[in-house]
Amino acid sequence: MRRDWDKRARENARHYVATGKEQWSEEEFYRSGQITVEEFILTDLVNVCQGKDPKDMKVLEIGCGAGRITRALAGFFGEVYAVDISREMVRQARTALRQFPNAHVFRNSGKDLSVVRTNWWNRFGIGERLQLDFAFSIIVFQHIPSREIIENYVREVNRLLRPGALFKFQVQGSPRVVVKAEDSWVGVPFTEHEAREMADRCGFEMRYEDGAGEQYYWLWFFKKKDAGSFGG
Ligand SMILES: C[S@@+](CC[C@H](N)C(=O)[O-])C[C@H]1O[C@@H](n2cnc3c(N)ncnc32)[C@H](O)[C@@H]1O
Repeated sequence: MRRDWDKRARENARHYVATGKEQWSEEEFYRSGQITVEEFILTDLVNVCQGKDPKDMKVLEIGCGAGRITRALAGFFGEVYAVDISREMVRQARTALRQFPNAHVFRNSGKDLSVVRTNWWNRFGIGERLQLDFAFSIIVFQHIPSREIIENYVREVNRLLRPGALFKFQVQGSPRVVVKAEDSWVGVPFTEHEAREMADRCGFEMRYEDGAGEQYYWLWFFKKKDAGSFGG
């Protein structure tokens, strides 16, 4: 997966991030990220913020690509943590975010969130535990051909979120896709039943869903307040 995404990033990162255009200008590309945030986050602030001031919130984005959405998130939320499997995507995202000291971009393993940490240390030299208020992912899981990897991410998000907080993400919902383990473009599809079972296994309540059977299948997973430890 890493090799494929690095290759795509070197070839034409903006196009592979958002295939609607072959050549994106910088302005159009980041504007499209702003529109995504308006469409999927700003219209849903009751669930996303739950009464918190966005500037007091710490949020996570999985699969940030070249920082298209991360930049808009960093303009709205207090602290943004973002991960991506591709070294080249991460390089481009860091460049795009250089004016945002509140954005932290990490290259991860492609299956877990162990790299996501704060830079804060207490006076005993112990790293501050990071607790996130919201997590988001779009056009990433639809490219992951492994159900186990997607579920591991969901479990990892549960580990990092505060109880009650939302993980809003998109998966492939179309049953017609042909998934091959070695193909990093086509992700495994989920039915509503499968999504609900995954939520249950990973300590979430799946409160809403939208787009079952379609490519853009949106899931709202709220971390159960009485969830035990689901972390890996
Ligand atoms: C189509 S791009 C979308 C980027 C971003 N979400 C956006 O909408 O602008 C998919 C991104 O997911 C990343 N990605 C793919 N598989 C991943 C995995 N297993 N873990 C983390 N990132 C992954 C790719 O490197 C790529 O940057």
